[in-house]
Amino acid sequence: MTASSKLLWVLFFSLSFHSIPTTPTPHVYIVYLGHSHGHDPLLTTKSHVQILCNVFSEESQAREALVYSYKHSFSGFAALLNSTQATTLSNMEGVISVFRSKVLQLHTTRSWDFMGLALDTGEATPLQLKYGDDVVVGIFDTGIWPESASFRNDSGLGPVPARWRGACVKGERFDPAAACNRKLVGARYYVAGFEREFGPLNATGSGEYRSARDRVGHGTHTASTAAGSVARGAGYLGGLGGGVARGGAPRARVAAYKVCWFVQLQGRCTEADIMAAFDDALRDGVGVISLSLGSSPPLTPLFATSTDVGAFHAAQMGVAVVFSAGNDGPDAALVQNVSPWATCVAAGTIDRAFPTPITLGNTVSFVGQGFIVKEMKMNLIDGGQIFDDGSCSFDSSPRRSATGKIVLCFSSLGQVSSTVAALAVLAANGSAMIFSETITKLTIQDDFLPTVHVDLHQGTQILDYIQSAGNATVLISLSRTSIGSSPAPSVAYFSSRGPSSISPNILKPDIAAPGVNILAAWPPLSSPTMLPFDRRSVNWNFESGTSMSCPHVSGIVALIKSAHPCWSPAAIRSALMTTAYMTDTTYDTILAGGTLKPVDPFDIGAGHVNPVAAMDPGLVYDIETEDYVIFLCSLGYTESQIKRMVLPSPSIDTSCSGNYSDLDLNYPAITISNLRSSITVKRTLRNVGQKNAFYFASVKNPQGVHAFVWPGVLIFTPHKEKMTYYVTVTPIKQSEDRYDFGEIMWSDGYHHVRTPLAVRVSNVRDGGSDRTRPESHQSA
Ligand SMILES: *[C@@H]1O[C@H](CO)[C@@H](O)[C@H](O)[C@H]1NC(C)=O
Ligand SMILES: *[C@@H]1O[C@H](CO)[C@@H](O)[C@H](O)[C@H]1NC(C)=O
Ligand SMILES: *[C@@H]1O[C@H](CO)[C@@H](O)[C@H](O)[C@H]1NC(C)=O
Ligand SMILES: *[C@@H]1O[C@H](CO)[C@@H](O)[C@H](O)[C@H]1NC(C)=O
Ligand SMILES: *[C@@H]1O[C@H](CO)[C@@H](O)[C@H](O)[C@H]1NC(C)=O
Ligand SMILES: *[C@@H]1O[C@H](CO)[C@@H](O)[C@H](O)[C@H]1NC(C)=O
Repeated sequence: MTASSKLLWVLFFSLSFHSIPTTPTPHVYIVYLGHSHGHDPLLTTKSHVQILCNVFSEESQAREALVYSYKHSFSGFAALLNSTQATTLSNMEGVISVFRSKVLQLHTTRSWDFMGLALDTGEATPLQLKYGDDVVVGIFDTGIWPESASFRNDSGLGPVPARWRGACVKGERFDPAAACNRKLVGARYYVAGFEREFGPLNATGSGEYRSARDRVGHGTHTASTAAGSVARGAGYLGGLGGGVARGGAPRARVAAYKVCWFVQLQGRCTEADIMAAFDDALRDGVGVISLSLGSSPPLTPLFATSTDVGAFHAAQMGVAVVFSAGNDGPDAALVQNVSPWATCVAAGTIDRAFPTPITLGNTVSFVGQGFIVKEMKMNLIDGGQIFDDGSCSFDSSPRRSATGKIVLCFSSLGQVSSTVAALAVLAANGSAMIFSETITKLTIQDDFLPTVHVDLHQGTQILDYIQSAGNATVLISLSRTSIGSSPAPSVAYFSSRGPSSISPNILKPDIAAPGVNILAAWPPLSSPTMLPFDRRSVNWNFESGTSMSCPHVSGIVALIKSAHPCWSPAAIRSALMTTAYMTDTTYDTILAGGTLKPVDPFDIGAGHVNPVAAMDPGLVYDIETEDYVIFLCSLGYTESQIKRMVLPSPSIDTSCSGNYSDLDLNYPAITISNLRSSITVKRTLRNVGQKNAFYFASVKNPQGVHAFVWPGVLIFTPHKEKMTYYVTVTPIKQSEDRYDFGEIMWSDGYHHVRTPLAVRVSNVRDGGSDRTRPESHQSA
């Protein structure tokens, strides 16, 4: 087990080094050198130029090639190199990794009440208004719209925390004196990496501001979700979802780091810029960093990507990093941002719906879902009558005009999304659309064209009516906002699923949070759909994606950090994970969108976040620098590399003398991707509740696996805050290639510390004979 996972890692690792493409054209590469030495930053930059001089004949060329010198929070640089130069540098003493600066993509409020964080609780001070004042949340995104009500209102906030060293940087349409206040305490932007990749910003024709100002909306939305102030009178066009908007930690401070630029209808974020933002943010004094961006698999090794390197140094400095899991679901193993030192967030639904009545000309009526703000009664036609191939896809040119008509489209014809279909109907001059899709994927969004979403059963009945009526008509009524729709939550079909394709023994995603139809702040100069021809202006907008669930967790982390300033990022993540829940409003297991089956940890991680319970988890699985050293040993790093990566401490043994496995990382989940025979996994719990406590273990075995926990009782005293337990996991079936799920629960009667257990028994080939094939095995 140990050996094979090690081998895998070494393999991945050497692949990354030798697969630097052999194209002669220069690209931006990032050269990572480990922690910074606390030297004078100028000296550090000088040393970076010296390293570069090894692959350039003159110092002036080396200086010209340098894009960034990272020198505050870790050491490294970004430079324009050809592949030969990159390979030469990667073989130099002192260099930990060299990787191409990739372009990452953005993962494109009722939610707080749904999670039990009510503002009007009647108690003295609701949790959300009690904590957060002393924490700065860094948002790495498309920038910020400082005039939004979420950031304008800093009334009631104390002075900016004294240790804050960040800056509010002047730029295009961004005057620090007007933009920054006690809420928005920092704003920086990073464009050098972007411009090396895509050319000068002003030549992209995107209208982007050369400043931290948000051109498109994504960054404003995520920042206001994480830490926006309380803002009354929020709501979408026509007041949908209306009410009091606020972020997870309405008293926490926001620092915007603009690393993503909107060009060709996409948010593009280069790794050279992201590294620069990490370098600054960690020095500035952020407490939490929220990143709703990533890159679809294949994933790169942990130290060959900016986000993992940045998060690693953040963890060592006590800064929690929260990522979105990606929107590539529901297929397995496409989860992104899987580093063990950060939190990876899946997206779920909440109990809010937007029922929209549809009445056909024959008086039969249905209830769909939509954001309809103007009633309409018109002729109804089927997309098959308009488009060549019968599907409402943008490429099939309209055969006839749909002027003054409402068009029925099916996602199943041509596999179109509602956005694509809306554009097609718009091109045919249709006035509105009824979009019929499988109920496993049904997600409403604003598609510019008024759209009502119905399921396939409803859509089929509407089609029958169109085909039988001579002159079909339909009345679409106004959408309502309804609270309490059930069951909720479910995991959104688009939310990326585990297991991790690069380190399957570390459970990812870690946790789920609301990410469907989230209402948050929006720049009035960007349209709600971000489409260039959409001329509407809104101050609040609905968005769906793991981009939206990630800042929910970032806000909750800020609350926990404020309430428990000494907890490490790993302890905070443990609190989130061990208190997360798996049941929905109907007391059944939460459903996984995309399949309509009960969730497992690869859909939802440890469960759906429960912020109130996470404040008081009882016990936590902490991870300290020693643990990370052992983990780095398990990945095959050498002592000299590890010494450069972890902050120096005399008490830490970096020699890697032992047999280490990534299974031993003190993670709040146990995932065994390859169980051949019995193995024992160790975990350590720290008591953060009452000093004297008795915890008892109970186990739910995965099918075909026996998990024995010892000792079965943990007794914590004021002198014994930390206790270790072991789990011996034994296969009791012959199997291959399937995961089974269970859990270990520690309880003192009040706290329930739940640890998911995911095991893939893989012993068929070992067993050898035909007798042990899966179809003939005896069930346990
Ligand atoms: C890479 O750049 C170096 C320095 O400019 C140059 O000597 C070398 O020929 C280049 N290699 C390739 C493959 O272009
Ligand atoms: C873009 O900006 C650069 C300098 O910032 C300027 O020299 C150039 O003329 C500008 N180009 C356009 C198309 O505005
Ligand atoms: C501004 O924030 C304060 C404190 O959170 C809140 O009481 C007040 O209602 C907010 N003002 C507006 C206009 O939303
Ligand atoms: C839609 O309307 C535009 C402008 O009136 C017209 O040019 C175009 O031909 C129409 N398209 C269809 C398919 O009716
Ligand atoms: C079809 O219905 C529409 C709207 O009710 C009406 O304006 C139109 O005259 C009708 N056409 C025919 C052929 O009945
Ligand atoms: C590590 O494991 C291998 C194979 O299981 C064994 O031969 C070796 O002695 C072990 N080394 C140490 C230091 O425990």
